[in-house]
Amino acid sequence: MEKIIDETKQGSALLQEQKASNTKKLFIESYGCQMNFNDSEIVASILADIGYNTTNLLEEADLVLVNTCSIRDKAEQTIRKRLEKYNAVKREENPDMKVGVLGCMAERLKEKLLEEEKIVDLVVGPDAYKDLPNLLKEVEEGREAVNVILSKDETYGDISPVRLGGNGVTAFVSITRGCDNMCTFCVVPFTRGRERSRDPYSIINEVNDLAKNGYKEITLLGQNVDSYLWYGGGLKKDFKNASEIQKATAINFAQLLDMVATAQPHIRIRFSTSNPQDMTEDVLHTMARHRNICKYIHLPFQSGSNRILKEMNRQHTREEYMELIDKIREILPGCSISHDIITGFPTETEEDHQDTLSLMEYVKYDYGFMFMYSERPGTLAARKLEDDVPEEVKKRRLTEIVDLQREHSAFRTQEMVGKVVEVLIEREARKSDEEWSGRTPQNTVAVFPKEHYKPGDFVNVKILDCTSATLIGEAVGYSENQLKSNNF
Ligand code: SAH
Ligand code: F3S
Repeated sequence: MEKIIDETKQGSALLQEQKASNTKKLFIESYGCQMNFNDSEIVASILADIGYNTTNLLEEADLVLVNTCSIRDKAEQTIRKRLEKYNAVKREENPDMKVGVLGCMAERLKEKLLEEEKIVDLVVGPDAYKDLPNLLKEVEEGREAVNVILSKDETYGDISPVRLGGNGVTAFVSITRGCDNMCTFCVVPFTRGRERSRDPYSIINEVNDLAKNGYKEITLLGQNVDSYLWYGGGLKKDFKNASEIQKATAINFAQLLDMVATAQPHIRIRFSTSNPQDMTEDVLHTMARHRNICKYIHLPFQSGSNRILKEMNRQHTREEYMELIDKIREILPGCSISHDIITGFPTETEEDHQDTLSLMEYVKYDYGFMFMYSERPGTLAARKLEDDVPEEVKKRRLTEIVDLQREHSAFRTQEMVGKVVEVLIEREARKSDEEWSGRTPQNTVAVFPKEHYKPGDFVNVKILDCTSATLIGEAVGYSENQLKSNNF
């Protein structure tokens, strides 16, 4: 099935490698984007240094943290329900338990959660995790603790995240934080602050460490990875003017990709998310040059209508987006492309909706994330535009978009039948304990009989059948990548 994000299913309590000397127990749960999951790994690392090991048993936790998402109203509602659950456990089973809210809901709801509703002890925004040890002391002394200050330079570049609940095969590495794009519907620039890029050398170090520890695939993360820019060892604000910046050796996203792919030629590299207006041809050529950079691009377009794109303050038109798609097809044949679409943005007409469907038809995306517009307090759209598309119309348009995507996904998976593709094994298949599940470079899930292979292996799989989201096949041997990385 196509991947519609359902926040209610995204939460997960996670287990980490434990430190024997740690005596306190942390239950940490994450909602929302991949960035939040990666942030929770940073938080676990900071707390591991002050005595906390993670647990997946809520009832035994000394500290419960929920890393929150504000992107749509539904995400916030899900987290509110979780807070009620934590408080019930606290009341009935574990009165000493402390509850904290991390991430995007922190700034918006701090007073409400702490003072009005008194359902949390601690509120920490996405740039304040290094203050957690101090804040926890405050809590232990019986005070409420809050730090939601957003930073212009915090990138957590010096913290090595504890890999939580993963498969030991794939990992996320954050390269930028925040976003400066100000799409009118989006709360991220308010909740996560200004965009900043992380020191490329700390990124390479983290990637090298992951490789040393057996990881085989790394996803570079940012709200807008293509605008990554590191000014020769400094930050933009450290320079007096543009010509000073020019003199310094800046590293852009294409160069960073090149550095990472060169540093670890047998590790698969992915990245997310690309903003159409910032993606350069250089990035596409860098992808073409490196066999280990996966030929897959997540390229949200939100709407196919130029009028709506303008209202959304997206810095690209439908035509520019289509040109970029053509460039991708030309430079990277076989590259898969996924999307994000918002349906029912204020003032969206039937004609605008048809523009979205026709753009989908033009690209025939491999898959996508499809959402109904959800008004977010404080955003420009909420202040200036009435949320005027009726709920039933939004729902109907979403169904049409989802149905069309299902057709396109099926078309894309069908194209793979009969071919041999490289699959990196991640875990046991959900439906059968006799099969492995992994992904192709194009990010499509493939399942096949286990035989003698194991998670972390790169295997060539012949595709025999498919559903709209999954390839079904059989292994025909190790891939060239596996053989080279093992120095056979
Ligand atoms: N650049 C970011 C986008 C983050 S938000 C990234 O890393 O993916 C992810 C998606 O959520 C957006 O692309 C958009 O399609 C959707 N979204 C954001 N705000 C929304 C809103 N107010 N209502 C509905 N969907 C929204
Ligand atoms: Fe949001 Fe637009 Fe940035 S969707 S995260 S403001 S690119």
